[in-house]
Amino acid sequence: MGIVPIRIAGDPVLREKAKRVRKIDASIQRLIDDMIDTMRAAPGVGLAAPQIGVSLRVVVIETPDDGLIPLINPEVVKHSGERRLVEGCLSVPGYQAEINRSRQVTVKALDREGKEVRIKAVDSLLAQALEHEIDHINGILYIDYLESADELIPVRPSIDDGAPSEAEVSLV
Ligand code: NI
Repeated sequence: MGIVPIRIAGDPVLREKAKRVRKIDASIQRLIDDMIDTMRAAPGVGLAAPQIGVSLRVVVIETPDDGLIPLINPEVVKHSGERRLVEGCLSVPGYQAEINRSRQVTVKALDREGKEVRIKAVDSLLAQALEHEIDHINGILYIDYLESADELIPVRPSIDDGAPSEAEVSLV
């Protein structure tokens, strides 16, 4: 297990369509462990394998309400509704922006034991993180939804000046 450097926007691995996992072997278990350690150290609420340079369809999410959720080959099978959210990404450090995400998201995936799981999330951080992380394995970053770079809001370190601090933003 270990903490791995997070790839930053501009790195081509973040733009690849990641490959499906064919066999859940020891190397996949190690990858998931590294991703959990790296996500927690950041800290963030989600991480996709391409963010640590591995172009495979593996994501990990951890929210206070839903706990730790590692997912292999996740896909959105249904989504509906729309809401405006502030979003950040560990691969786009120092910025956040408002984008649209779905209100309801249903995802099908395998858990780390290879068992098929279905997750339905409604109006939650989990719903946002599921869409964000599955975007990552398709080579999409949240900044792609912005019409211009002017929409990016710089995030300053937490100081009591009324500006948004990093802690208020979900970094995924
Ligand atoms: Ni991200």
